[in-house]
Amino acid sequence: MPNPVESKHRPDMTAIRSAEADAIAEAGALLRAGGLVAMPTETVYGLAADATNGEAVARIFEVKGRPRFNPLIVHAPDVATAALYGEFDDQAAALAKAFWPGPLTLVVPRRANSPIADLVSAGLDTLAVRVPDHSVTQAVLRAAGRPLAAPSANRSGHVSATSAEHVAADLGTRVPMILDAGPTRHGLESTVVSIADDFPALLRPGAISTEAIEAVLQLKLLRRTEGGDAPQSPGQIHSHYAPRAALRLNAIVPEKGEAFLAFGPSEIAIGATTINLSERGDLVEAAAKLFSALRALDASGAACVAVAPIPDHGLGEAINDRLKRAAAPRRR
Ligand code: TXA
Ligand code: MG
Repeated sequence: MPNPVESKHRPDMTAIRSAEADAIAEAGALLRAGGLVAMPTETVYGLAADATNGEAVARIFEVKGRPRFNPLIVHAPDVATAALYGEFDDQAAALAKAFWPGPLTLVVPRRANSPIADLVSAGLDTLAVRVPDHSVTQAVLRAAGRPLAAPSANRSGHVSATSAEHVAADLGTRVPMILDAGPTRHGLESTVVSIADDFPALLRPGAISTEAIEAVLQLKLLRRTEGGDAPQSPGQIHSHYAPRAALRLNAIVPEKGEAFLAFGPSEIAIGATTINLSERGDLVEAAAKLFSALRALDASGAACVAVAPIPDHGLGEAINDRLKRAAAPRRR
């Protein structure tokens, strides 16, 4: 039974705004300043952040209560902009031409000089991008002037939100602004296709049929949909980043020859083999730096990276999940 007190107060507790020009301009300013905005797309509502701002992206995971860093989709206003972030071969270009703007997400190799934050692709060397086909999403992208990382705007484990009210019910006051443009057209997420490996593969069925994609490519997609939207286990994604170095967790100080991933106030000098995720002990800052720090310490050549204890609350849970999986023994 609905709680009358709660529903009566709900309009004051949430930040639902009709997606008019003034609200869109404010959304753009909020996003540029590192804030989050829930916005409609043609598929489902997305929880957007500036994809070039690692801390803003970290806040997405915090607000969704995601215990893991799943890679996110980058939304771009057009194909030319998307091509600044990822490498499009002939197949990717053909799919972009056929289905963009629209509910198709392409996973492509990440450009070496891509300005997209590492956390967006959870340390992978691939990037998921799409050009949305919704006038409000397009207007927000142009108002922000930034690529926008946006997962579905629901709490982790819940179904995707297809209306502003669903977003409000799920995320409530945790987002400063929810742009309302009514129920979404498809009500189903975008289809995710990988053009990053030897052969094109379907990663998630969605609003565009597999057959339509296969007709453009004139081949049958591999099916790599096991687990669907479920968290990926190490190795499940072909190109999953795993450090070469061993990881030693909960290390107070590094031993001789070890690189050190510090957290919080530390006496150890920062240098090629020591990186502090956040000297002030801020988990949002730590999440934003995690993947680039792991890569840099791995590149230092140390055989082992000692990792300081990270608190297990808030974003610490996702950070520790990633570190545990990176530390687990793996097959070569
Ligand atoms: O329709 C949609 O796609 C919505 C709207 C907001 O655009 N977004 C959405 O995002 O559904 P999310 O985060 O809920 O789902 C993203 C999917 C996940 O299945 C994720 O594993 C996959 O895309 N993905 C993202 N980046 C990837 C990558 N680099 N490699 C493989 N899969 C990736
Ligand atoms: Mg989702």
